Amino acid sequence: MFLTLEGGDAAGKTTQAVALERWLVERGRTVVRTREPGGTELGAEIRNLLLHGGHVAPRAEALLYAADRAHHVATVVRPALERGDVVVQDRYLDSSVAYQGAGRVLDPEEVRGLSTWATEGLLPDLTILLDVDPVEARARRGGRAAEDRLEAEQDDFHARVRAAFLALAAASPERFVVVDGARPAEVVAADVRAAVEPRLER
Ligand SMILES: Nc1ncnc2c1ncn2[C@@H]1O[C@H](COP(=O)(O)OP(=O)(O)O)[C@@H](O)[C@H]1O
Ligand SMILES: [Mg+2]
Repeated sequence: MFLTLEGGDAAGKTTQAVALERWLVERGRTVVRTREPGGTELGAEIRNLLLHGGHVAPRAEALLYAADRAHHVATVVRPALERGDVVVQDRYLDSSVAYQGAGRVLDPEEVRGLSTWATEGLLPDLTILLDVDPVEARARRGGRAAEDRLEAEQDDFHARVRAAFLALAAASPERFVVVDGARPAEVVAADVRAAVEPRLER
C-alpha cells in the first residue's frame, strides 16, 4: 500500500507521517517512511541542489524533481511495495503539480506528465491532504504577521498552493482524503487513521 501526505510547508506532514508509521507498526505492518525530494542518496544530493543551490531555470528545476522521483520510485518505493510493505511518503507528484500551478511558470499538466513518465505511472493508493490556512502555517514556522510586500506576496503564493491542492483533491476524490490540519495533532492523526484503516482491510 502506497500512502502519501501532501500539503503546504508546516501543514504537519512529518508529524502525521511519524504518528501513522507508529500506528501501522503497532498493527504488525512493515513500514517504509520516506520523502521527496531526498529519499535516496542521489535524492539527498538533488535536494541539496534544489534547496540550497543558486538559481535553477524552471525547466531544469522540474527535471531535477522528476529525476529525484524516478530514482526514488525505482529503488525505494516499488521494491517496498513488491515486498508487501506499507510506504508512508511525505510529498509526491501532487506537490509538483500544485506548486507549479501556484507559481504560474510551467504548465502544471506538463509537469504531471513528466512525473508520470518518471514513475511509469505509479499513483498512491491514498493521498492525505493536510489542509491548513497559510497564515496559521506561517505562525507554526515562527513567522510574523504579513508586514511587508514580500511576506504578503508569500502569503498570496501559499494561498494559491493551498487552492491548487484542494482542486487536485476535488478532481480525484477516490484517491484523496482532505483532513483539516489546523486542529491539534492527535485529532488530525485520528482522522488520518480513519482514512487509512478501511483501505488496509481491503
Ligand atoms: N496539528 C498541529 N497543530 C499545531 N502545530 C503543529 C501541528 N502539527 C504539526 N505542528 C507543528 O508545526 C511545525 C511543522 O510541522 P511538520 O510536521 O514539520 O510540518 P511539515 O512536515 O508539513 O512541514 C512543527 O513545529 C510541528 O510541531
Ligand atoms: Mg516535513
